[in-house]
Amino acid sequence: MKRWMKRVGYLLGGLVALILVATAAVYGFSEARLRKQYTISPTAMTIPTDTIAVARGAHLSQTVAGCSDCHGLDLAGHAIVDDAALGRIYSANLTRGKGGVGSVLSDVDFVRAIRHGVAPDGRPLKIMPSSDYMNLSDVDLAAIIAFVKSLPPVDKEVPIPSVGPLGRALFVAGKLPFLHAERIDHSRKQPAAMAGSATAEYGAYLAGVGCKGCHGPSLAGGPIIDGPPDWPQAANLTPAGALGSWTDKDFQHLLREGKRPDGSQVSPVMPWKTMGRMTDEEIAALWAYLRTLPATPSASARTASR
Ligand code: HEC
Ligand code: HEC
Repeated sequence: MKRWMKRVGYLLGGLVALILVATAAVYGFSEARLRKQYTISPTAMTIPTDTIAVARGAHLSQTVAGCSDCHGLDLAGHAIVDDAALGRIYSANLTRGKGGVGSVLSDVDFVRAIRHGVAPDGRPLKIMPSSDYMNLSDVDLAAIIAFVKSLPPVDKEVPIPSVGPLGRALFVAGKLPFLHAERIDHSRKQPAAMAGSATAEYGAYLAGVGCKGCHGPSLAGGPIIDGPPDWPQAANLTPAGALGSWTDKDFQHLLREGKRPDGSQVSPVMPWKTMGRMTDEEIAALWAYLRTLPATPSASARTASR
């Protein structure tokens, strides 16, 4: 009896040690990446102050760039994830109010944060989707910064983001790659300016900023790379998906009303309320671009047929 108990004791002790080692490893591996220093020195950019540029920045940040989805319409920040296991991730207060970064960040700091996903102290920003904003033209990025700098100050202290044990485990396993700084080619050059018009070329530009982060580089949909595990798969936007039989009006209706041609409601993960604020011309440009895509089966369908 005694010997039997001893054996169970060893087994349990071994298990506890294993769990401790695994936890320490997850913590250590994630901490090294969260604390990594990125030395990024973006070239200085002139930030305009005229009302046309500020209006353009407001429009971009409330539509295709979706800043307001995470930072709020007043850009004063709020909780994005507040979960003991996943983490407490709050977006930053971008205004000049108390608790805001607006009075601290220089123009170059803004470029580094938005385009490269790196904070002024060199740490990688969490969740901030800079791999999409890498695609913004210089003129549009400057307009967004102009808008942020024009905001009325809002006093709001937001907690510093922290990642919980489950968030860290998913991150280390490669299932929640929320540090965009890790996967950006920081030396890539952007177009100086993109003139807005209802062309496929302009649609491709808008899709690079606002759609490919979720619908994938080929827009064929599938699992969303930085979505939490409970998010639905993104739809296939190439002619191989449902859009193959849609009209331009059906597409505009989905973005404006969140409803497919058969009347069914799209999941709230699809930010149609934000994207639906785009102008008719921008939606027409996107549609023109989607029509040029090769019919590609969705990522999940590809995996299933393998
Ligand atoms: C998917 C959510 C999300 C979107 C969309 C988003 N952000 Fe962020 N942003 C965050 C989070 C979360 C942080 C805080 C990250 C951290 O501190 O690690 C952040 C931080 C920042 C910072 C850095 C503040 C600092 O501490 O130095 C700036 C600047 C910023 N965002 C600007 C923008 C702008 C401008 C846009 C739109 C072009 C935008 N963000 C869109 C989530 C988002
Ligand atoms: C935050 C992630 C996200 C972003 C950004 C996003 N989408 Fe989606 N989209 C989704 C998801 C998820 C679905 C599937 C929703 C469902 O299954 O109900 C979807 C569905 C759609 C549909 C419906 C297709 C169908 O077959 O039912 C269209 C059209 C669409 N998206 C277009 C766009 C366009 C255009 C953009 C960029 C302007 C965009 N989406 C940006 C996540 C996103």
